[in-house]
Amino acid sequence: MSSLPKYQEIYRRFRLAIDQGQLRPGERVPSVRALAQELKVARGTVETAYQLLVSEGFFEARGQAGTVVAESLAQLALKPVPVPAPVTCGPRPLQMGLPALDAFPRKLWARLVTQQVRRTDADSLAMGDVCGVQALRVAIASYLALYRGVECAPSQVFVCAGYSGGLALLCDALEMAGQRCWFEDPGYLHARQLLQHKGVELVPVPVDQDGLDVEQGMQRELQARLAIVTPAHQSPLGVALSPARRQALLGWAREQGSWVVEDDYDSEFRYRGQPLAALKSQDADDRVIYAGSFSKMLFPGLRLGYLVVPVALVEPFERSARVLQQRSAQLLQLTAADFLEQGHFTRHLKKMRQLYAQRRGWLVAALQAHCAEFLRVDEQAGGINLLARLLVDVPDEVVARAAGEMGLGVQALSGWTLEAGGGQGVLMGFTNLCTAGEADSVVLVLKGVISGI
Ligand SMILES: Cc1ncc(COP(=O)(O)O)c(C=O)c1O
Repeated sequence: MSSLPKYQEIYRRFRLAIDQGQLRPGERVPSVRALAQELKVARGTVETAYQLLVSEGFFEARGQAGTVVAESLAQLALKPVPVPAPVTCGPRPLQMGLPALDAFPRKLWARLVTQQVRRTDADSLAMGDVCGVQALRVAIASYLALYRGVECAPSQVFVCAGYSGGLALLCDALEMAGQRCWFEDPGYLHARQLLQHKGVELVPVPVDQDGLDVEQGMQRELQARLAIVTPAHQSPLGVALSPARRQALLGWAREQGSWVVEDDYDSEFRYRGQPLAALKSQDADDRVIYAGSFSKMLFPGLRLGYLVVPVALVEPFERSARVLQQRSAQLLQLTAADFLEQGHFTRHLKKMRQLYAQRRGWLVAALQAHCAEFLRVDEQAGGINLLARLLVDVPDEVVARAAGEMGLGVQALSGWTLEAGGGQGVLMGFTNLCTAGEADSVVLVLKGVISGI
Protein backbone atom coordinates (compact mmCIF):
# COMPACT_ATOMS: atom_id res chain seq x y z
CA MET A 1 0.00 0.00 0.00
CA SER A 2 1.01 3.61 -0.40
CA SER A 3 1.76 3.98 3.34
CA LEU A 4 4.72 1.61 2.99
CA PRO A 5 8.17 3.28 3.21
CA LYS A 6 9.46 3.87 -0.33
CA TYR A 7 12.56 1.70 0.10
CA GLN A 8 10.38 -1.25 1.13
CA GLU A 9 8.17 -0.72 -1.90
CA ILE A 10 11.26 -0.88 -4.13
CA TYR A 11 12.57 -3.92 -2.25
CA ARG A 12 9.24 -5.70 -2.70
CA ARG A 13 9.09 -4.99 -6.41
CA PHE A 14 12.50 -6.55 -6.98
CA ARG A 15 11.67 -9.57 -4.80
CA LEU A 16 8.51 -10.12 -6.79
CA ALA A 17 10.26 -9.71 -10.12
CA ILE A 18 12.88 -12.29 -9.06
CA ASP A 19 10.32 -14.71 -7.65
CA GLN A 20 8.13 -14.46 -10.72
CA GLY A 21 11.13 -15.05 -13.00
CA GLN A 22 10.94 -11.61 -14.61
CA LEU A 23 14.49 -10.91 -13.40
CA ARG A 24 16.95 -13.76 -13.88
CA PRO A 25 20.21 -14.57 -12.04
CA GLY A 26 23.08 -12.58 -13.51
CA GLU A 27 20.78 -9.93 -14.97
CA ARG A 28 21.88 -6.37 -14.38
CA VAL A 29 19.56 -4.05 -12.49
CA PRO A 30 19.40 -0.28 -13.02
CA SER A 31 22.01 1.86 -11.30
CA VAL A 32 20.97 3.55 -8.07
CA ARG A 33 21.11 6.94 -9.75
CA ALA A 34 19.05 5.93 -12.78
CA LEU A 35 16.35 4.25 -10.72
CA ALA A 36 16.18 7.13 -8.24
CA GLN A 37 15.69 9.50 -11.15
CA GLU A 38 13.04 7.35 -12.75
CA LEU A 39 11.07 6.88 -9.56
CA LYS A 40 11.65 10.48 -8.44
CA VAL A 41 12.98 9.41 -5.05
CA ALA A 42 16.20 10.20 -3.19
CA ARG A 43 19.24 8.09 -4.10
CA GLY A 44 19.54 7.01 -0.46
CA THR A 45 16.10 5.39 -0.72
CA VAL A 46 17.15 3.18 -3.63
CA GLU A 47 20.51 2.49 -1.94
CA THR A 48 18.75 1.25 1.20
CA ALA A 49 16.58 -1.13 -0.85
CA TYR A 50 19.62 -2.42 -2.80
CA GLN A 51 21.65 -2.93 0.39
CA LEU A 52 18.81 -4.95 1.84
CA LEU A 53 18.64 -7.10 -1.29
CA VAL A 54 22.44 -7.57 -1.25
CA SER A 55 22.45 -8.47 2.46
CA GLU A 56 19.76 -11.08 1.87
CA GLY A 57 21.64 -12.59 -1.07
CA PHE A 58 19.29 -11.51 -3.85
CA PHE A 59 21.65 -8.96 -5.42
CA GLU A 60 25.41 -8.93 -5.95
CA ALA A 61 27.22 -5.61 -6.00
CA ARG A 62 29.99 -5.75 -8.65
CA GLY A 63 31.53 -2.31 -8.22
CA GLN A 64 32.10 -0.62 -11.59
CA ALA A 65 30.23 -3.45 -13.33
CA GLY A 66 27.03 -2.47 -11.50
CA THR A 67 24.62 -4.56 -9.51
CA VAL A 68 23.19 -7.86 -10.73
CA VAL A 69 20.69 -10.43 -9.54
CA ALA A 70 22.77 -12.98 -7.59
CA GLU A 71 24.03 -15.87 -9.75
CA SER A 72 23.74 -18.14 -6.74
CA LEU A 73 19.93 -17.94 -6.95
CA ALA A 74 20.09 -20.14 -10.08
CA GLN A 75 21.27 -23.11 -8.00
CA LEU A 76 18.34 -22.78 -5.63
CA ALA A 77 15.74 -24.50 -7.77
CA LEU A 78 13.11 -23.45 -5.32
CA LYS A 79 9.44 -23.04 -6.01
CA PRO A 80 8.83 -19.31 -6.13
CA VAL A 81 8.23 -18.02 -2.66
CA PRO A 82 5.45 -15.45 -2.69
CA VAL A 83 6.45 -12.20 -1.09
CA PRO A 84 3.98 -11.12 1.59
CA ALA A 85 1.90 -8.08 0.91
CA PRO A 86 2.95 -5.27 3.21
CA VAL A 87 1.43 -5.16 6.64
CA THR A 88 -0.35 -1.89 7.24
CA CYS A 89 -2.63 -0.68 9.97
CA GLY A 90 -5.22 0.38 7.40
CA PRO A 91 -7.24 -1.89 5.15
CA ARG A 92 -5.53 -4.99 3.84
CA PRO A 93 -4.76 -4.99 0.11
CA LEU A 94 -7.85 -6.09 -1.89
CA GLN A 95 -10.03 -5.96 1.22
CA MET A 96 -13.68 -5.99 0.21
CA GLY A 97 -16.49 -3.70 1.16
CA LEU A 98 -14.58 -0.51 1.87
CA PRO A 99 -14.84 2.87 0.19
CA ALA A 100 -11.59 4.63 -0.81
CA LEU A 101 -10.43 5.70 2.62
CA ASP A 102 -7.65 7.90 1.19
CA ALA A 103 -10.15 9.88 -0.87
CA PHE A 104 -12.60 10.85 1.84
CA PRO A 105 -12.59 14.67 2.34
CA ARG A 106 -11.34 14.50 5.91
CA LYS A 107 -10.58 18.20 6.25
CA LEU A 108 -14.04 19.19 5.12
CA TRP A 109 -15.56 16.62 7.47
CA ALA A 110 -13.43 17.90 10.35
CA ARG A 111 -14.59 21.45 9.61
CA LEU A 112 -18.24 20.40 9.68
CA VAL A 113 -17.74 18.47 12.93
CA THR A 114 -16.04 21.52 14.47
CA GLN A 115 -18.89 23.79 13.40
CA GLN A 116 -21.33 21.42 15.05
CA VAL A 117 -19.26 21.28 18.22
CA ARG A 118 -19.28 25.08 18.37
CA ARG A 119 -23.04 25.09 18.05
CA THR A 120 -23.43 22.78 21.05
CA ASP A 121 -25.91 24.24 23.50
CA ALA A 122 -27.34 22.81 26.69
CA ASP A 123 -30.34 21.25 24.90
CA SER A 124 -28.18 19.35 22.44
CA LEU A 125 -26.55 17.49 25.31
CA ALA A 126 -29.76 15.59 25.97
CA MET A 127 -30.51 12.15 24.49
CA GLY A 128 -32.32 13.28 21.34
CA ASP A 129 -34.89 11.38 19.30
CA VAL A 130 -34.40 7.62 19.40
CA CYS A 131 -35.42 7.38 15.71
CA GLY A 132 -32.70 9.80 14.64
CA VAL A 133 -31.94 13.51 14.60
CA GLN A 134 -34.68 15.34 12.71
CA ALA A 135 -32.28 17.28 10.46
CA LEU A 136 -30.74 14.02 9.23
CA ARG A 137 -34.10 12.32 8.70
CA VAL A 138 -35.19 15.30 6.59
CA ALA A 139 -31.91 15.37 4.63
CA ILE A 140 -32.15 11.62 3.92
CA ALA A 141 -35.78 11.89 2.78
CA SER A 142 -34.97 14.69 0.35
CA TYR A 143 -31.84 12.93 -0.97
CA LEU A 144 -33.87 9.75 -1.59
CA ALA A 145 -36.65 11.64 -3.36
CA LEU A 146 -34.19 13.40 -5.66
CA TYR A 147 -31.65 10.68 -6.38
CA ARG A 148 -33.36 7.33 -5.75
CA GLY A 149 -36.97 8.15 -6.65
CA VAL A 150 -38.06 7.10 -3.15
CA GLU A 151 -40.88 9.23 -1.75
CA CYS A 152 -41.16 9.14 2.02
CA ALA A 153 -41.86 11.35 5.01
CA PRO A 154 -39.01 11.98 7.49
CA SER A 155 -41.09 10.09 10.10
CA GLN A 156 -40.60 6.91 8.03
CA VAL A 157 -36.81 7.27 8.24
CA PHE A 158 -35.12 5.46 11.13
CA VAL A 159 -31.48 6.33 11.65
CA CYS A 160 -29.52 3.27 12.82
CA ALA A 161 -25.98 2.18 13.57
CA GLY A 162 -25.34 1.08 9.99
CA TYR A 163 -27.22 -1.57 8.05
CA SER A 164 -26.49 -4.09 10.77
CA GLY A 165 -28.15 -1.79 13.34
CA GLY A 166 -31.10 -1.50 10.96
CA LEU A 167 -31.44 -5.26 10.66
CA ALA A 168 -31.33 -5.66 14.43
CA LEU A 169 -34.13 -3.10 14.76
CA LEU A 170 -36.12 -4.84 12.04
CA CYS A 171 -35.78 -8.27 13.69
CA ASP A 172 -37.22 -6.78 16.85
CA ALA A 173 -40.01 -4.77 15.23
CA LEU A 174 -41.18 -7.62 12.98
CA GLU A 175 -40.59 -10.25 15.68
CA MET A 176 -38.51 -12.26 13.26
CA ALA A 177 -37.24 -14.92 15.67
CA GLY A 178 -38.43 -18.29 14.35
CA GLN A 179 -39.82 -16.71 11.17
CA ARG A 180 -38.84 -17.63 7.61
CA CYS A 181 -36.87 -15.23 5.45
CA TRP A 182 -35.71 -15.58 1.83
CA PHE A 183 -32.02 -14.96 1.71
CA GLU A 184 -29.96 -14.54 -1.46
CA ASP A 185 -27.59 -17.43 -2.04
CA PRO A 186 -24.78 -16.40 -2.21
CA GLY A 187 -25.57 -13.42 -0.02
CA TYR A 188 -24.10 -10.83 2.31
CA LEU A 189 -22.21 -12.73 4.96
CA HIS A 190 -22.65 -10.35 7.91
CA ALA A 191 -26.40 -10.03 7.35
CA ARG A 192 -26.65 -13.81 7.28
CA GLN A 193 -24.73 -14.15 10.54
CA LEU A 194 -26.76 -11.45 12.25
CA LEU A 195 -30.11 -12.88 11.15
CA GLN A 196 -29.16 -16.39 12.19
CA HIS A 197 -28.00 -15.02 15.53
CA LYS A 198 -31.42 -13.43 15.95
CA GLY A 199 -33.09 -16.82 15.35
CA VAL A 200 -34.40 -16.04 11.86
CA GLU A 201 -34.86 -19.14 9.69
CA LEU A 202 -33.12 -18.40 6.45
CA VAL A 203 -34.43 -19.93 3.25
CA PRO A 204 -31.61 -19.90 0.69
CA VAL A 205 -32.84 -18.67 -2.69
CA PRO A 206 -30.44 -19.03 -5.64
CA VAL A 207 -29.19 -16.02 -7.58
CA ASP A 208 -28.49 -16.11 -11.32
CA GLN A 209 -27.71 -13.50 -13.99
CA ASP A 210 -31.10 -11.83 -13.31
CA GLY A 211 -30.64 -11.68 -9.55
CA LEU A 212 -32.76 -13.51 -6.97
CA ASP A 213 -34.75 -16.37 -8.51
CA VAL A 214 -38.23 -15.41 -7.26
CA GLU A 215 -39.84 -18.58 -8.69
CA GLN A 216 -37.47 -20.71 -6.66
CA GLY A 217 -38.21 -18.66 -3.58
CA MET A 218 -41.93 -19.25 -4.00
CA GLN A 219 -41.37 -22.98 -4.46
CA ARG A 220 -39.19 -23.20 -1.39
CA GLU A 221 -41.23 -21.09 1.02
CA LEU A 222 -44.25 -19.32 -0.40
CA GLN A 223 -45.28 -17.83 2.92
CA ALA A 224 -41.95 -16.43 4.06
CA ARG A 225 -42.47 -13.32 6.16
CA LEU A 226 -39.57 -11.47 4.61
CA ALA A 227 -37.21 -11.43 1.62
CA ILE A 228 -33.88 -9.62 1.76
CA VAL A 229 -32.43 -8.50 -1.56
CA THR A 230 -29.63 -6.36 -2.98
CA PRO A 231 -31.34 -5.35 -6.26
CA ALA A 232 -28.84 -2.82 -7.68
CA HIS A 233 -25.65 -4.90 -7.41
CA GLN A 234 -26.30 -8.25 -5.85
CA SER A 235 -23.92 -8.89 -2.99
CA PRO A 236 -21.53 -10.53 -3.80
CA LEU A 237 -22.16 -11.41 -7.50
CA GLY A 238 -22.76 -7.82 -8.64
CA VAL A 239 -25.68 -8.68 -10.97
CA ALA A 240 -28.81 -6.49 -11.11
CA LEU A 241 -32.31 -7.75 -10.30
CA SER A 242 -34.07 -7.80 -13.70
CA PRO A 243 -37.29 -5.80 -14.29
CA ALA A 244 -39.34 -9.04 -14.55
CA ARG A 245 -37.94 -10.36 -11.28
CA ARG A 246 -38.62 -7.00 -9.58
CA GLN A 247 -42.26 -7.21 -10.60
CA ALA A 248 -42.47 -10.86 -9.53
CA LEU A 249 -40.97 -10.06 -6.13
CA LEU A 250 -43.29 -7.11 -5.49
CA GLY A 251 -46.26 -9.22 -6.66
CA TRP A 252 -45.30 -12.03 -4.27
CA ALA A 253 -45.00 -9.60 -1.34
CA ARG A 254 -48.41 -8.07 -2.16
CA GLU A 255 -50.16 -11.43 -2.45
CA GLN A 256 -48.58 -13.02 0.61
CA GLY A 257 -48.61 -9.90 2.79
CA SER A 258 -44.83 -10.37 3.12
CA TRP A 259 -42.14 -7.68 3.43
CA VAL A 260 -39.12 -7.09 1.22
CA VAL A 261 -35.91 -5.51 2.49
CA GLU A 262 -34.05 -3.63 -0.23
CA ASP A 263 -30.41 -3.31 0.80
CA ASP A 264 -29.35 -0.42 -1.44
CA TYR A 265 -25.82 -0.25 -0.04
CA ASP A 266 -23.80 0.74 -3.13
CA SER A 267 -26.25 1.51 -5.93
CA GLU A 268 -24.59 4.87 -6.65
CA PHE A 269 -21.45 3.15 -7.86
CA ARG A 270 -22.36 2.17 -11.37
CA TYR A 271 -19.79 2.59 -14.12
CA ARG A 272 -21.95 2.05 -17.19
CA GLY A 273 -25.09 4.13 -17.55
CA GLN A 274 -27.08 5.67 -14.73
CA PRO A 275 -27.65 4.11 -11.29
CA LEU A 276 -30.58 1.68 -11.46
CA ALA A 277 -33.92 2.72 -10.01
CA ALA A 278 -34.53 1.68 -6.44
CA LEU A 279 -36.98 -1.20 -6.01
CA LYS A 280 -38.67 1.00 -3.43
CA SER A 281 -39.46 3.56 -6.15
CA GLN A 282 -41.62 0.88 -7.86
CA ASP A 283 -43.31 -0.25 -4.65
CA ALA A 284 -46.92 0.81 -5.22
CA ASP A 285 -48.22 -1.38 -2.36
CA ASP A 286 -45.74 -0.14 0.28
CA ARG A 287 -44.26 -3.59 1.00
CA VAL A 288 -40.58 -2.60 0.73
CA ILE A 289 -38.39 -1.60 3.66
CA TYR A 290 -35.57 0.41 2.13
CA ALA A 291 -32.15 0.16 3.80
CA GLY A 292 -29.36 2.66 3.17
CA SER A 293 -25.94 2.91 4.72
CA PHE A 294 -23.26 5.62 4.86
CA SER A 295 -20.60 2.93 5.21
CA LYS A 296 -19.78 2.87 1.49
CA MET A 297 -20.91 6.38 0.60
CA LEU A 298 -18.91 8.07 3.40
CA PHE A 299 -16.89 5.77 5.67
CA PRO A 300 -17.73 2.64 7.66
CA GLY A 301 -16.31 3.87 10.98
CA LEU A 302 -19.13 6.42 11.05
CA ARG A 303 -21.61 3.62 11.82
CA LEU A 304 -24.58 5.41 10.31
CA GLY A 305 -27.31 3.90 8.21
CA TYR A 306 -31.07 4.13 7.97
CA LEU A 307 -34.27 2.31 7.18
CA VAL A 308 -37.26 3.77 5.38
CA VAL A 309 -40.21 1.77 6.61
CA PRO A 310 -43.70 1.49 5.09
CA VAL A 311 -46.31 3.70 6.76
CA ALA A 312 -47.98 0.63 8.31
CA LEU A 313 -44.73 -0.25 10.09
CA VAL A 314 -43.82 3.14 11.54
CA GLU A 315 -45.51 2.40 14.84
CA PRO A 316 -43.96 -1.02 15.56
CA PHE A 317 -40.55 0.31 14.52
CA GLU A 318 -40.93 3.31 16.84
CA ARG A 319 -41.90 0.98 19.67
CA SER A 320 -38.85 -1.21 19.14
CA ALA A 321 -36.55 1.77 18.74
CA ARG A 322 -37.74 3.08 22.11
CA VAL A 323 -37.07 -0.25 23.78
CA LEU A 324 -33.69 -0.86 22.15
CA GLN A 325 -32.41 2.71 22.68
CA GLN A 326 -29.70 2.20 20.04
CA ARG A 327 -28.98 5.81 19.19
CA SER A 328 -26.07 6.95 17.03
CA ALA A 329 -24.01 9.90 18.29
CA GLN A 330 -25.94 13.12 17.69
CA LEU A 331 -22.86 15.09 16.77
CA LEU A 332 -22.15 12.76 13.86
CA GLN A 333 -25.78 12.61 12.78
CA LEU A 334 -25.85 16.42 12.66
CA THR A 335 -22.57 16.51 10.75
CA ALA A 336 -23.87 13.96 8.24
CA ALA A 337 -27.01 16.10 7.83
CA ASP A 338 -24.83 19.14 6.99
CA PHE A 339 -22.77 17.04 4.59
CA LEU A 340 -25.93 16.05 2.72
CA GLU A 341 -27.69 19.41 2.85
CA GLN A 342 -24.70 21.40 1.65
CA GLY A 343 -24.32 19.20 -1.44
CA HIS A 344 -21.00 17.63 -0.39
CA PHE A 345 -22.54 14.17 -0.44
CA THR A 346 -23.57 14.13 -4.08
CA ARG A 347 -20.29 15.78 -5.13
CA HIS A 348 -18.35 13.16 -3.21
CA LEU A 349 -20.30 10.31 -4.81
CA LYS A 350 -19.70 11.73 -8.27
CA LYS A 351 -15.95 11.89 -7.64
CA MET A 352 -15.88 8.40 -6.19
CA ARG A 353 -17.70 6.98 -9.20
CA GLN A 354 -14.88 8.22 -11.44
CA LEU A 355 -12.16 7.13 -9.06
CA TYR A 356 -13.60 3.65 -8.61
CA ALA A 357 -13.98 3.18 -12.36
CA GLN A 358 -10.26 3.92 -12.67
CA ARG A 359 -9.20 1.73 -9.74
CA ARG A 360 -11.37 -1.12 -10.91
CA GLY A 361 -9.80 -0.82 -14.36
CA TRP A 362 -6.33 -1.16 -12.81
CA LEU A 363 -7.31 -4.31 -10.95
CA VAL A 364 -9.01 -5.88 -13.98
CA ALA A 365 -5.98 -5.10 -16.17
CA ALA A 366 -3.56 -6.52 -13.60
CA LEU A 367 -5.62 -9.71 -13.21
CA GLN A 368 -5.80 -10.14 -16.96
CA ALA A 369 -2.07 -9.53 -17.35
CA HIS A 370 -0.85 -11.80 -14.56
CA CYS A 371 -3.58 -14.23 -13.53
CA ALA A 372 -5.47 -15.09 -16.74
CA GLU A 373 -4.57 -18.78 -16.39
CA PHE A 374 -6.04 -18.95 -12.86
CA LEU A 375 -8.84 -16.43 -12.72
CA ARG A 376 -11.59 -15.09 -14.98
CA VAL A 377 -12.95 -11.70 -14.00
CA ASP A 378 -16.73 -11.62 -13.74
CA GLU A 379 -17.05 -7.94 -14.62
CA GLN A 380 -20.39 -6.34 -13.78
CA ALA A 381 -21.69 -2.82 -14.42
CA GLY A 382 -21.26 -1.60 -10.87
CA GLY A 383 -20.41 -2.23 -7.26
CA ILE A 384 -17.26 -1.84 -5.21
CA ASN A 385 -16.13 -5.45 -5.26
CA LEU A 386 -14.85 -7.68 -8.00
CA LEU A 387 -15.46 -11.40 -8.39
CA ALA A 388 -12.92 -13.53 -10.23
CA ARG A 389 -13.95 -17.12 -10.95
CA LEU A 390 -11.33 -19.75 -10.28
CA LEU A 391 -10.26 -21.60 -13.41
CA VAL A 392 -8.05 -24.09 -11.60
CA ASP A 393 -9.10 -27.00 -9.46
CA VAL A 394 -8.23 -25.48 -6.11
CA PRO A 395 -10.86 -24.75 -3.45
CA ASP A 396 -11.44 -21.01 -3.15
CA GLU A 397 -11.29 -21.29 0.66
CA VAL A 398 -7.71 -22.57 0.34
CA VAL A 399 -6.81 -19.66 -1.93
CA ALA A 400 -8.40 -17.12 0.42
CA ARG A 401 -6.65 -18.61 3.46
CA ALA A 402 -3.25 -18.72 1.76
CA ALA A 403 -3.76 -15.17 0.44
CA GLY A 404 -4.72 -14.07 3.96
CA GLU A 405 -1.44 -15.46 5.25
CA MET A 406 0.31 -13.26 2.69
CA GLY A 407 -1.51 -10.21 3.97
CA LEU A 408 -4.25 -9.95 1.31
CA GLY A 409 -7.86 -9.27 2.28
CA VAL A 410 -9.57 -11.40 -0.41
CA GLN A 411 -12.48 -13.70 0.42
CA ALA A 412 -13.77 -17.00 -0.95
CA LEU A 413 -17.08 -16.91 -2.81
CA SER A 414 -18.06 -20.24 -1.24
CA GLY A 415 -17.88 -18.62 2.21
CA TRP A 416 -20.83 -16.44 1.19
CA THR A 417 -22.87 -19.40 0.01
CA LEU A 418 -25.47 -21.29 2.03
CA GLU A 419 -25.93 -24.28 -0.26
CA ALA A 420 -23.00 -25.90 -2.06
CA GLY A 421 -22.70 -25.54 -5.83
CA GLY A 422 -22.56 -21.75 -6.13
CA GLY A 423 -19.16 -21.86 -7.81
CA GLN A 424 -15.65 -21.08 -6.73
CA GLY A 425 -14.26 -17.62 -6.86
CA VAL A 426 -12.18 -14.95 -5.25
CA LEU A 427 -13.87 -11.76 -4.02
CA MET A 428 -11.79 -8.63 -3.84
CA GLY A 429 -12.07 -4.92 -3.29
CA PHE A 430 -10.33 -2.40 -5.56
CA THR A 431 -11.29 0.92 -4.00
CA ASN A 432 -8.10 1.29 -1.97
CA LEU A 433 -5.65 0.56 -4.77
CA CYS A 434 -3.97 3.94 -5.13
CA THR A 435 -1.94 3.34 -8.30
CA ALA A 436 -1.79 0.95 -11.24
CA GLY A 437 1.59 -0.18 -9.89
CA GLU A 438 0.04 -1.11 -6.59
CA ALA A 439 -2.64 -3.15 -8.37
CA ASP A 440 0.15 -4.95 -10.23
CA SER A 441 2.10 -5.68 -7.04
CA VAL A 442 -0.82 -7.13 -5.11
CA VAL A 443 -1.99 -9.19 -8.07
CA LEU A 444 1.53 -10.62 -8.37
CA VAL A 445 1.29 -11.62 -4.71
CA LEU A 446 -2.02 -13.33 -5.48
CA LYS A 447 -0.48 -15.06 -8.50
CA GLY A 448 2.35 -16.31 -6.32
CA VAL A 449 -0.17 -17.62 -3.81
CA ILE A 450 -2.28 -19.52 -6.35
CA SER A 451 0.66 -20.94 -8.30
CA GLY A 452 2.24 -22.03 -5.03
CA ILE A 453 -0.75 -24.12 -3.87
C1 LIG B 1 -24.26 -6.05 1.11
C2 LIG B 1 -23.99 -4.99 2.13
N1 LIG B 1 -25.01 -4.30 2.64
C3 LIG B 1 -24.82 -3.34 3.55
C4 LIG B 1 -23.57 -3.01 4.00
C5 LIG B 1 -23.40 -1.92 5.01
O1 LIG B 1 -23.31 -2.44 6.28
P1 LIG B 1 -23.08 -1.46 7.53
O2 LIG B 1 -23.94 -0.27 7.29
O3 LIG B 1 -23.53 -2.28 8.70
O4 LIG B 1 -21.64 -1.14 7.58
C6 LIG B 1 -22.48 -3.70 3.51
C7 LIG B 1 -21.14 -3.40 4.01
O5 LIG B 1 -20.17 -4.08 3.81
C8 LIG B 1 -22.69 -4.71 2.53
O6 LIG B 1 -21.67 -5.37 1.99
